Amino acid sequence: MEIIANNHHTDTIVNTIHCIDCVIGMQQLPDNLVDLVVTSPPYDDLRNYNGYAFDFEKIANQLFRVVKQGGIVVWVVSDKIKNGNRSLTSFRQALYFQEIGFNVHDVMIYEKKNTPFMRSNAYTNCYEFMFVFAKGSPKTFNPLKTATARSGKEKLVANKKADGINKKVWGELNTEKTLTNIWQYAVGLGGSTNDKIAFQHTAIFPEKLAADHILSWTNENDIILDPMCGSGTTCKMAKLYKRNYIGFEISEDYAKIAIERIKLLDSMPLLEF
Ligand SMILES: C[S@@+](CC[C@H](N)C(=O)[O-])C[C@H]1O[C@@H](n2cnc3c(N)ncnc32)[C@H](O)[C@@H]1O
Repeated sequence: MEIIANNHHTDTIVNTIHCIDCVIGMQQLPDNLVDLVVTSPPYDDLRNYNGYAFDFEKIANQLFRVVKQGGIVVWVVSDKIKNGNRSLTSFRQALYFQEIGFNVHDVMIYEKKNTPFMRSNAYTNCYEFMFVFAKGSPKTFNPLKTATARSGKEKLVANKKADGINKKVWGELNTEKTLTNIWQYAVGLGGSTNDKIAFQHTAIFPEKLAADHILSWTNENDIILDPMCGSGTTCKMAKLYKRNYIGFEISEDYAKIAIERIKLLDSMPLLEF
């Protein structure tokens, strides 16, 4: 594990997990370095997390500075419910990102296929937000596709003319279409990841979620940052897909897990996506 020195030599910073407060970590990075951020903050503990400082506004401001023009921040977040009242911290954070200059490019949904969180007097909560903030207009978009239900040649309805006759013409149906902005993932062992060690962290997101954003918004050799990298999911997927990564994590225990998972990349059977 490396603790970064006070310098601007980014080649000593990339492709490493750093045990550091991400505000201090980002202060070491030059402006306009990062192509993509995929991260998930500690939900709702705005000032404190396991005794660690979490200063949301400073983090957001640093993100705006270090992200390139056309770069993207994917902010995966949910709200806590206290005394039956949903905090809406997620929305407040999104509005702040917009205030400091990001475009709210999309508000996507991360739907969990298997969710344990049930409430006796409300519907089972099965999703988190994936806010997609863009600095300007996204410079890269490689849309993920899915197979269409029908393909091949089919008689398609052509526009009705004034005579009222609905002419059908032969046409070729598309074999695939762009995904919607609701993405569904299995969670837990075998869903989020095969790495048992990752579950020593209580709040990981699925590898496929990170991978899908990485493939959508970046190309090979781009730089991906996770300022609160936890068990290292984003960094692991960045390495797998031949991108550069920077991981900051304030807890030494979690940073060690992240380093271990990246090492496992070469030896573990990967999840089949
Ligand atoms: C929701 S978890 C991220 C989990 C991660 N996405 C994964 O898949 O493992 C949030 C992480 O932020 C870390 N954290 C909180 N404040 C931080 C700070 N100021 N700088 C860096 N990391 C911080 C916490 O220790 C925690 O591991």
